[in-house]
Amino acid sequence: MAKTRVCVLFGGVSSEHEISLLSASSVIQNIPADKYEIICVGITRKGRWLYYPGDVSLIANGEWESHPDCTTAVLSVDRTHKGLIKIMSDGETSVLHIDCIFPVLHGRNGEDGTIQGLFTIAGIPYVGCDTLSSAVCMDKAFTHTVLDAAGIRTAKWLSLCRSDISRLDELIPTVVEKLGFPMFVKPANAGSSVGINKANDEEQLKEAIKIAFSHDTKVVVEAAVVGKEVETSVLGYDNPCVAEPGEIVPCNEFYDYEAKYILGTTELYIPARLTPEETQKVKETALKAYQVLGCGGLARIDFFVTPDHEVILNEPNTMPGFTAISMYPKLWENSGLSYPELLDQLISMAIERAEF
Ligand SMILES: Nc1ncnc2c1ncn2[C@@H]1O[C@H](COP(=O)(O)OP(=O)(O)O)[C@@H](O)[C@H]1O
Ligand SMILES: [Mg+2]
Repeated sequence: MAKTRVCVLFGGVSSEHEISLLSASSVIQNIPADKYEIICVGITRKGRWLYYPGDVSLIANGEWESHPDCTTAVLSVDRTHKGLIKIMSDGETSVLHIDCIFPVLHGRNGEDGTIQGLFTIAGIPYVGCDTLSSAVCMDKAFTHTVLDAAGIRTAKWLSLCRSDISRLDELIPTVVEKLGFPMFVKPANAGSSVGINKANDEEQLKEAIKIAFSHDTKVVVEAAVVGKEVETSVLGYDNPCVAEPGEIVPCNEFYDYEAKYILGTTELYIPARLTPEETQKVKETALKAYQVLGCGGLARIDFFVTPDHEVILNEPNTMPGFTAISMYPKLWENSGLSYPELLDQLISMAIERAEF
């Protein structure tokens, strides 16, 4: 039987480019080779699309980009192609048919629905959430609005738009009154904690708002929640499943970029240290949120569980970190689904789903 051809997309123009390279290296090494043929396409920070036939070991450190065999390759929007158009240096072109795309891209233009729109137009099945749910889950203000409407608890919040910067002094007392210190200030379209700060007083709040606005035109301010940070892995379409939750104990004051990727001393507990009732509530809320947010394929949905057993949703991630030691695959592994089996399921479900 011919192998299914999967295009793994990695890199991208977002601030999470490097994280994508790490995730993609793991994905490429673990997709079952007996069943799938992998086509690697990297997107540079500037947005160039390059077909990369070289060794997977050169992806994580970024060396792939300067490999002499890289060829420009763009996704064709012509549905009769269902694939990539390779453009050689002499201008010759050829079409490479693709059965499924696995966008191992985090953040802007990868996880926000824009590229999912391109896949939809191209008529090619792809792993993960569709345009609408990716867009809603990427924007923290929209996520809050949808979850509020569904009665799913999140931190108290408000959003600020760029025009609010000029009247910040006037607005600060209202923000303080509504949320109280400490607060978390985030660019609406954040990822990997980039641009996120905790504010303990008005001075820090103003500074944090300015920093967040340097990353985005919309900013979300939340009341700080005290509790355990718990993560869930959800998989599937019409009848999704959720793995046993895991827990992170950040090595910094909160789970910032350094705690996520640099220090390496953040503790993980799998399963999370929760009571059976808390675990049940977290799992139920994860499935409900997945459904109301319109997710499909996969999402990692993160929570806080407070000392008085409240379950508060922090955020959904439609393309969570995907290295072999990332929480999303680890939680599935703990629930009996190995990393290669998980990748197989994600791809085969995406293809199946697209057929009806
Ligand atoms: N409302 C909050 N209360 C307490 N901690 C928070 C809150 N919001 C964010 N944090 C901390 O900041 C981290 C990053 O915030 P998050 O919204 O998950 O952003 P990202 O999308 O960048 O992962 C969280 O993992 C948590 O440690
Ligand atoms: Mg997060």
